[in-house]
Amino acid sequence: MSAPTRAAIRPGTVTPMRPVPASISRPHYAPLSGTKAKDQPWDLDDAPVKTAEIIEKMRHAGRIAALARDEVGKHVVPGVTTEELDRVGHEFLLDHGAYPSTLGYKGFPKSLCSSVNEIVCHGIPDDLPLEMGDVVKIDVTAFVDGVHGDTCATFFAGEPSEQVRLLSERTHEAMMRAINAARPGRPISVIGRVIESYARRFDYGVIRDFTGHGVGPSFHTKPTIWPYDEPRATTMIEAGMTFTIEPMLTLGGYAWEMWPDGWTIATKDKSWVAQWEHTLHITDDGAEILTLSGS
Ligand code: MF3
Ligand code: CO
Ligand code: CO
Repeated sequence: MSAPTRAAIRPGTVTPMRPVPASISRPHYAPLSGTKAKDQPWDLDDAPVKTAEIIEKMRHAGRIAALARDEVGKHVVPGVTTEELDRVGHEFLLDHGAYPSTLGYKGFPKSLCSSVNEIVCHGIPDDLPLEMGDVVKIDVTAFVDGVHGDTCATFFAGEPSEQVRLLSERTHEAMMRAINAARPGRPISVIGRVIESYARRFDYGVIRDFTGHGVGPSFHTKPTIWPYDEPRATTMIEAGMTFTIEPMLTLGGYAWEMWPDGWTIATKDKSWVAQWEHTLHITDDGAEILTLSGS
């Protein structure tokens, strides 16, 4: 069942890419002048287990992404456009010496993803204002000192319906339970099993085709972190791995369709969606969350 009060989300107008000063170091896919060389891939097969040096850099990138996410969240109110939220995130990242990883990644034109109501993920910030009761997933990735930190939170414009508030809380809980289960010596499938079994209690849809991923020097790399019980997920979790857990749960089904813009993903049944994401570092006895904003 979808929240009933609001017309379907439609595409708005997207403004040109925002500039990034030359003083900010950029990922290889977004060179200061021109475009990435054709034969260069967007992402590499980074070693899944990272060096201590890379992890230290990821602590920094993760924290900046988390602070940006929370700063954008403070601006989520009825009447604000996702374009304005993008401006807030863009400027916050630049002010903290970070490049907005999504800007120019595979042609994505903005500095964060803003996915409203039935939009599952990869929503492009545009000029349409949020309405009272809307839910918006803000997914921010920061590139600093050669590594990415990737995080998403669900925010509300004004008061959400009870049903949507619970969806967001339980999606967060599903992520936290999966984070707790992510320990060395277990197969990666444990993550999706925890998410799916928790979501089932409430009859939520679990989006299957957009997954967590290894992250570090590359934005999206091995291993794939399926958000459901996937038999292919046999890779063992090891200390030193860095990856995201990012469940997307719906009030309906998991079928989706892509908008003609080639990015925006909406549920087919228009059911509303919540998403949370953290970047994690696996330690000997659990997972360290790299995208916390607290001190
Ligand atoms: N941050 C998203 C993720 O969690 C990816 C966005 S890629 C973009 O994996 F191109 F859509 F920006
Ligand atoms: Co991610
Ligand atoms: Co993300």
